[in-house]
Amino acid sequence: MLRPTNQIVVIFGASGDLTYRKLLPALFDLYCQSALPDSFIILGVARSSMSHAAFCDKMKEGIEHFSNLVKKNESLIEPFLSRVDYLSIDTAGKTEYFKLKEKLLSIDKVYNTGGNYLFYLATPPSMYETIAQNLHAVDLHQEEAGKYFRRIIVEKPFGYDLASAVDLNKKLHLVFSEHQIYRIDHYLGKETVQNILVFRFSNGLFEPIWNRNFIHHVEITAAETLGVGSRGRYYEQAGAIRDMLQNHLMHLLALIAMEPPVLFEAQSLQNEMVKVLQALRPLDKESIENNIIRGQYTGARTNRGFLAAYREEKDVAPDSTTETFVAMKVFIDNWRWADVPFYIRTGKRLPSQLTEVIIHLKATPQALFKGQCTGPSCNKIILRIQPEEGIGMQFGLKSPGSGYNVKQVQMDFKYSELANTYIPSAYERLLLDAMHGDPALYIRSDAVEATWKFIDPLLKHIQTNKDFKLYGYPSCTWGPEEANQLIPEGWSEYPAYCSIEEEPKFTVLG
Ligand SMILES: NC(=O)c1ccc[n+]([C@@H]2O[C@H](COP(=O)([O-])OP(=O)(O)OC[C@H]3O[C@@H](n4cnc5c(N)ncnc54)[C@H](OP(=O)(O)O)[C@@H]3O)[C@@H](O)[C@H]2O)c1
Repeated sequence: MLRPTNQIVVIFGASGDLTYRKLLPALFDLYCQSALPDSFIILGVARSSMSHAAFCDKMKEGIEHFSNLVKKNESLIEPFLSRVDYLSIDTAGKTEYFKLKEKLLSIDKVYNTGGNYLFYLATPPSMYETIAQNLHAVDLHQEEAGKYFRRIIVEKPFGYDLASAVDLNKKLHLVFSEHQIYRIDHYLGKETVQNILVFRFSNGLFEPIWNRNFIHHVEITAAETLGVGSRGRYYEQAGAIRDMLQNHLMHLLALIAMEPPVLFEAQSLQNEMVKVLQALRPLDKESIENNIIRGQYTGARTNRGFLAAYREEKDVAPDSTTETFVAMKVFIDNWRWADVPFYIRTGKRLPSQLTEVIIHLKATPQALFKGQCTGPSCNKIILRIQPEEGIGMQFGLKSPGSGYNVKQVQMDFKYSELANTYIPSAYERLLLDAMHGDPALYIRSDAVEATWKFIDPLLKHIQTNKDFKLYGYPSCTWGPEEANQLIPEGWSEYPAYCSIEEEPKFTVLG
């Protein structure tokens, strides 16, 4: 494996949850695979006063709990931690950055890291602009082509709406050039998401039928069984639209619908993704009211015990109108997809934990076996993003015996059946790409703005139309009944079933 250039990875917000659960475990897993540079330092930066030893102890605990490879590599924890350092500064204070610069220069001298710095913003989004400006103030943003690089990874959420995303792009561009900015959406780091590209563009079998002539409709679903848990404060501000729809699901949609890129490199890939996002049919009042359903989970007795309502969760207002579920029908107005409905849904406290894309193919032109398949035809292609990562295909076969009855069968591929294959976590893949300077799986500024531009009318509609309903759905059902009515009967893989022990009570909450 080609290792990245020697460098320092500087994580802002290093005392937080993301560093503990995801970033350090992912970096450790890369270390176990000898994928990190010959020489590197991971420098955690935060306000919390913590000794180097205390920080390392905390990171060790995180690695022990969350690394994928630690069980077979416990002996590597200490050597890895010898490359981890911590600096406590007030990240909001400009003058503090002289300390950071000094620290980086001294690491460069000892570890031969050559002035190559990868900054990771794992702080609340309100700090992104300040940190960029402060890095600028001490000239830590400036790279020199061919000599040393400066890159910055920006966590989600990137903006709160179109105006704030445009503004953040502007502010970051005052300091960094676009090629230095890596906007992360960890969905794009998932193997199965990247596999969409390989599946589509390496097989003569699928791409010729991947269009409006053969595809009837597409379902994209990201369902979570868990509720909001301890993230009530964050979620109250975000809701399902900002937390899932604007980023993960829009990017998934772009990968499903994009044209083949001319080359397999960042610029071409991103160009094609952006074209899809720009071709989304804009949301107006009528389409919002007819094609979008918002919901919020309510309490229910289920086979998982009694599950409380969203409004009863910690840090959630008792009259909250934040949606925990959203379903929508959208169209992509281009030659490939004109008039093909894409049904997107995401929610918390649904009956299953899954993310998948189902491509429903049109029926054969001569309806010899009409009515014998569920949905428009017997043929479906199922891309399972998580869990049970894999691909399924459904088709009709003759049912043995007399007559010509159709039996629907499924052909399944599961990643877990690939012997001895380690599937890297999304953060491993994305961190390594940024260390290599490959932005292909990061989000370009125009893509971020295109998704917000699409979503913005919906956010404004919710804000200004108090009669735009928020439906209650009992925990462990597939969302509000109205969401099931968005998609014609028989077209969906997800029946309106539930695993609750009482007759579900669907309500209107706002
Ligand atoms: N956790 C996840 O799984 C996850 C997933 C996707 C995206 N993200 C994003 O990643 C970022 C970090 O998330 P997190 O869960 O790690 O958050 P967190 O646990 O709250 O940690 C953020 C860290 O930033 C520092 N911080 C907090 N407020 C600050 C302020 N006003 N000024 C300067 N520093 C401040 C804190 O350290 P000090 O007080 O020590 O400075 C804190 O430890 C967020 O933008 C989040 O949306 C997180």
